[in-house]
Amino acid sequence: MNDFPDLGKLGSQSKLVFLSGAGVSAESGISTFRDSGGLWEKHNIYDVATPEAWRANQDLVLEFYNQRRKQLLQVEPNAAHRAIARLQDYFKVEVITQNVDDLHERAGSEKVMHLHGELRKSRSSVDDSLVYDIDGWEIKKGDLCEKGSQLRPHVVWFGEMVPMIEPAQELVSQADLLVVVGTSLNVYPAAGLLHAVRAGTPIIAIDPAPLDLDHFPRTYHLREKAGEGMQKLWLKLRR
Ligand code: APR
Repeated sequence: MNDFPDLGKLGSQSKLVFLSGAGVSAESGISTFRDSGGLWEKHNIYDVATPEAWRANQDLVLEFYNQRRKQLLQVEPNAAHRAIARLQDYFKVEVITQNVDDLHERAGSEKVMHLHGELRKSRSSVDDSLVYDIDGWEIKKGDLCEKGSQLRPHVVWFGEMVPMIEPAQELVSQADLLVVVGTSLNVYPAAGLLHAVRAGTPIIAIDPAPLDLDHFPRTYHLREKAGEGMQKLWLKLRR
């Protein structure tokens, strides 16, 4: 086990980059994907989260994301989202999230990059540049973009490109500290972002479960839930 990194040199000009996953929103009541009882235990990825699924059954795909959006509108950011946002008062903070929820933004984080899209937005199914805010919780069959095609969820499905990966790599390469919160690091290319840190940059992972960090040897693993782990990190950073 590595020692907890020395954070004493970090100051107001230091860049803290957070890479978050489903676990950061778990304490808000949103299911993760791969934990016991997680979303991918209840739904087949290939039925709801691939381009093939969209071609085969738009109703099912729309319904899956509509239900998730409905739930999102009923939950609130938690202590971990808020702690990350509060750190903006002391450091330059950037958030890269794999989550499609908007809880980082609602907690007050100003710089949030969504790697896998945004649940509260829809997109044209013929022109990726046409992205719209969704009013309420539903995309309905028959809701069309300005080019006349059915609107789809603005999410990155399995088998699709991750258009934000290069800007995300650039951000990580500028980090003075990378904090990875609530992700199983099972999904690439997001998990590979840990490789983009500059030599010597500390990485702290906050997650209650064991993580396979063999590829990321300099990472310190704080085995806590996001709220508790962020509280501990906050105290270290503010000391
Ligand atoms: N606090 C912090 N971490 C938690 C908590 C919690 N309260 N509860 C669970 N976790 C951790 C789990 O231990 C696990 O390591 O969150 C992680 C969730 O992992 P996944 O379900 O695999 O979610 P994520 O890593 O975000 O998935 C990546 O996969 O399905 C796709 O596109 C989807 O963005 C998602 C991507």
